[in-house]
Amino acid sequence: MNLTITGAQRRLTSTALALGIMVGIMISTSSSALAGDAAAGEKKAYTCLGCHGVLHYVNTYPTYHVPKLGGQHKEYLVEALKAYRAKTRTHGTMQANAALLSDEDIDDIAEYFASQGEQ
Ligand code: HEC
Repeated sequence: MNLTITGAQRRLTSTALALGIMVGIMISTSSSALAGDAAAGEKKAYTCLGCHGVLHYVNTYPTYHVPKLGGQHKEYLVEALKAYRAKTRTHGTMQANAALLSDEDIDDIAEYFASQGEQ
């Protein structure tokens, strides 16, 4: 029996491995989408990205400190946005940004940023 692994077999193995990882990511993404819709959140977060840099989005003009949202815990982001909306957390700009968000918007946006991972 020939036990030598050919290049083709090795490529096949790594392709199968890559596919397995991709399927794994797809499954974990779709299950986390049950609580909030990250795709909808991405659209709703469009205006936020001008200030909050996330993966591949870099704040173009950082004249002041803006917290990084990508990779933060979803629960924390939800709490922060609800606090700005209720004006129990002070910050004029963020209160204005959160004022018109519904609970569903906040859930989707938080899901989106939490799914972005560290930069
Ligand atoms: C004009 C710039 C600007 C825009 C637009 C903006 N933010 Fe902010 N955001 C800030 C700044 C500055 C802070 C820090 C405020 C503070 O110190 O409390 C902040 C803080 C936050 C925090 C708290 C983060 C933390 O680590 O405590 C969250 C969550 C957040 N913003 C979400 C959003 C979302 C969601 C949007 C869009 C709906 C948005 N922001 C739009 C400037 C902005």
